[in-house]
This record gives sequence, C-alpha cells and structure tokens, in this order.
Amino acid sequence: MDDILEARDLRKLYHRGSEEIAALDGVSLDIKKGEFVSFVGPSGSGKTTLVNILGCLDNPSSGSLRLDGTEIFAAGRAWSEAELTRIRRRVFGYVFQRFHLVPTLTVRENVELPFAFHKKDGAADTDRLLADLGLDQRQDHLPGQLSGGEMQRVAVARALVNGPEILLADEPTGNLDSKRTGEVREVLLELSRKRGVTIVLVTHNPELAKAAQRVVELRDGKII
Ligand SMILES: Nc1ncnc2c1ncn2[C@@H]1O[C@H](COP(=O)(O)OP(=O)(O)OP(=O)(O)O)[C@@H](O)[C@H]1O
Ligand SMILES: [Mg+2]
Repeated sequence: MDDILEARDLRKLYHRGSEEIAALDGVSLDIKKGEFVSFVGPSGSGKTTLVNILGCLDNPSSGSLRLDGTEIFAAGRAWSEAELTRIRRRVFGYVFQRFHLVPTLTVRENVELPFAFHKKDGAADTDRLLADLGLDQRQDHLPGQLSGGEMQRVAVARALVNGPEILLADEPTGNLDSKRTGEVREVLLELSRKRGVTIVLVTHNPELAKAAQRVVELRDGKII
C-alpha cells in the first residue's frame, strides 16, 4: 500500500468534428512513493494527456485515480476546483511541455512565483536551486532575454521551489543540449535518491528515460 498514484482504466476522449479520438484508451498503472518513472512513446500517443490527469490538472472521461489512497476522480466525479487547486499546490511540482513563464517577471521572480500562493515548509533555497540549474548569472533577466534552454531550466526550478512530493515533468529537456540535459538528469536523480521525490517524467530522450527505475511505453493511448 505504498502506491502514491493508482490509475484504473483511464480514458480520455476528444471530439474533433464528428470524429472521436481516444487520447487515452484504458490506462491502468500504479506508481510507488519515491519511484522514478518515465513515459515514452511517439508524438500523439497520449503522454501529456496521461501526465496531466495523474497530476490532477485534467479529468479523465472515465476511469479512476487515487492519490495517496484518496479518490480524486471516479465514476465521472471529481473534486471541486478549489480542492483540486489545494492538492496541486500541496503535492505537485509541474514542468509543462510549454514552459508557461510569466514574461514580465524576472528569472528569480518566476522561480519564486509558487511562494505567492503558498510557501511550504521544506521550500528550497532559491539561491542553491538557481546555482544547481546554472541560472545564478541569469536571475535578474526576463524570460524574453533567455534562450529556450534557459527558460526550460527556469521552469524546472519553479517546479522544485516548494519541495514537491511528486514532480511531473513533461519533456523537461526538449530544448537542451546534451550537457544541459545531463545537468537536469543529475538534478532529477538527486531528488529521487536523496529526497525520495516521486518523479513522473515524459521524454523523447532515451538516455534521460533510462535514468528512471521504470520506463513505460505508450502507443495510441495504451500502455504497451
Ligand atoms: N484538447 C485537445 N483536443 C483534441 N484533441 C486533443 C487535445 N489534446 C490532445 N489531443 C489529441 O490526443 C492525442 C494525445 O495527445 P497528447 O498531447 O497526450 O500526446 P503526446 O504523447 O504528449 O504527444 P507529444 O509527444 O507530441 O507531446 C493526440 O491525438 C492529440 O491530437
Ligand atoms: Mg506531449
């Protein structure tokens, strides 16, 4: 019973005109507390859809999800938006496939943005985090003054600033060269090994995927 996430028969249907697309087509999986899992699969296979549901950001069309034993989605019911917001802030750190940085805030302000809503005990030391991600020289810059790779590292730092129990990272190294990818890999491994953070990673990079304890492959909305 040390599963932190338990997904059963998740389906997500989208309608495009008269066509129905099953972005997820019956996905069941358990993720253990402290486990590092990566999701791989071709573009359109449902990785982002799945990770967004596991992260309580999106609801499934059917199926159920338990977080730490608590039912979040089941039989078409979900928690209220206010409750989901509380869970998202308390439990998760997110790195989105598109970084979603605030253009008018500096690097440091973007990284510390989660503190505006909630500063957790166990919040990271921002200076250390910026240094670990090679951003200490960039902390007063605006996102528009950064490279794609730097923006991506800001998004990683922001996801970690509140010391999340579960980190969801959708393509966190998609814009990074191999040296920077290696640095993000080290940050993830340290979080996993030393701090026991549960990590759910989506990546097209085989080297990065292999850092995980388990690699799950999706195709056409199913685990293969
Ligand atoms: N809001 C939406 N409306 C309609 N269809 C959608 C929507 N979001 C996703 N889809 C479709 O669902 C399927 C799965 O998409 P998803 O974004 O989960 O794939 P992915 O594996 O993350 O792909 P990528 O590697 O390109 O990021 C695709 O066919 C996509 O076109
Ligand atoms: Mg995606």
